Amino acid sequence: MNVGVLGSGDVGKALGQGFVQLGHRVMMGSREPNSAGAVAWAAAAGPNASHGTFAQTAQFGDVVVLATLGVASANAIRLAGTDQFRGKLVLDATNPLDASKGMPPVLVGGVGDSGGEKHQRLLPDAHVVKAFNTVGHALMFRPQLPGGPPDMFICGQSADAKKRAAEICSAGRSSTSAESAPRTTSRRCAWCGCWRG
Ligand SMILES: NC(=O)c1ccc[n+]([C@@H]2O[C@H](COP(=O)([O-])OP(=O)(O)OC[C@H]3O[C@@H](n4cnc5c(N)ncnc54)[C@H](OP(=O)(O)O)[C@@H]3O)[C@@H](O)[C@H]2O)c1
Repeated sequence: MNVGVLGSGDVGKALGQGFVQLGHRVMMGSREPNSAGAVAWAAAAGPNASHGTFAQTAQFGDVVVLATLGVASANAIRLAGTDQFRGKLVLDATNPLDASKGMPPVLVGGVGDSGGEKHQRLLPDAHVVKAFNTVGHALMFRPQLPGGPPDMFICGQSADAKKRAAEICSAGRSSTSAESAPRTTSRRCAWCGCWRG
């Protein structure tokens, strides 16, 4: 399948590489068409890897991964164009954290909301599933840990989309733990992301 990875940071690179290793075609998206990080990543990742703008990348993906700076994810979605996400599974690896005033970062939006819910509201015709945000980028694909791969927590409002997300996580050899309550679970996922750091 075609996977569009919005984000050229550590998470975009780790997940992009994982999808390439699983045999998928991956485009990495940035604000600029020739971002140095995305160009270098695509060159190193092989013939199934490419790079583009957020809009080109979202259009390219059968599945779209959101791996942008948490406080900038709404802007990335706007730059990509909400129409490009219609009907697609969106794997949301972001955490709504603001580190602009130093560490530790501040959770944006407080405890009454979450990035996953916000992104689903921005993309009502897509199927947003929170995934990968509760582990560090080095543990996102085929983590080598003494006890085996850790659980991957996922949540979202579509049962079908969560099933697909679980299959994708399992292909990367993480077991998954899904809950059906989309709102509270997405908030807990956000807090897990905070606690991790
Ligand atoms: N690092 C981890 O281990 C880890 C683990 C779990 C979850 N997360 C979450 O995953 C997400 C990505 O983290 P990261 O460390 O890979 O990278 P990051 O530095 O948080 O984000 C980099 C990406 O954000 C984009 N971006 C920055 N400012 C933007 C703006 N104003 N508008 C639109 N896009 C903007 C960048 O675009 P350009 O490509 O154009 O520069 C780049 O693609 C974050 O939400 C983070 O909280 C990170």
